[in-house]
Amino acid sequence: MRSDIIFERLWNDYTALNPDVSAIYDAFVAAGETVINDHIAFRTLNHPRICIEKLSRVFLDAGYVEKGNYHFEAKKLVAKHYEKQDDPTAPRVFISHLLLEEFSDELQMNFNQLIDQIPKGFEDEKELIFSKDIFGTASFSIYEKLRKESEYAAWVYAFGFRANHFTVSVNHLKKFSTLGHVNDFLKSKGFRLNQSGGEIKGNPEELLEQSSTLAGLYNLQFTDGKHSIPGCYYEFALRYPDEEGNLYNGFIAKSADKIFESTDFYSK
Ligand code: NI
Repeated sequence: MRSDIIFERLWNDYTALNPDVSAIYDAFVAAGETVINDHIAFRTLNHPRICIEKLSRVFLDAGYVEKGNYHFEAKKLVAKHYEKQDDPTAPRVFISHLLLEEFSDELQMNFNQLIDQIPKGFEDEKELIFSKDIFGTASFSIYEKLRKESEYAAWVYAFGFRANHFTVSVNHLKKFSTLGHVNDFLKSKGFRLNQSGGEIKGNPEELLEQSSTLAGLYNLQFTDGKHSIPGCYYEFALRYPDEEGNLYNGFIAKSADKIFESTDFYSK
């Protein structure tokens, strides 16, 4: 599957779930901008059937190569990022997975049971990356239990495989030269930003600055009715050139650590 087709399908699903994203995209277009995607991100679990290596397969087949490795100790996550080898303008792909063995027996048992229900061989299908309902209709009581241990685990359970976020490349905006300028624009339109670790994560010395909206609440159908829970968010990234003049392509773990919290605000 060509990567532009993968991204189009993911974008259609992502904007259908998150009306705020379409509203922000439209606001940039109305301001005369062309919105270019810096990266997308997926969340999964380090189970052999659905780990990073399984989710990345469709991107490797489309010409992507592995570039960076990241570890998020407190959140018990690792991640990798991928870039398209022959196309530096293609969006990067960031995939993280939860280190299941570091969580309670109950959490592991819940996920092992859910993963056992995935049809045999499906983990090797191209459709895996689009399988937002991979865990079936979620139970709100399991969701709440997972959330007590890991907000990330609960999100994966409820939303499955879909883009957790797309990212506006601030480098490609013509009228917004700083991330602060972008943030002011978003706030003036009434969007709420993730304040965890400050509104802007990273700095020019780290070669990457990022901000993100707070995930919009989504009224998800659970087995026992609908509940409003945080869905996806939109990210904004400004990259700087390194000493050789090459634009930085990686990610900063301590910034990403705070960006993850864009879906974790209901308890605050
Ligand atoms: Ni991101």
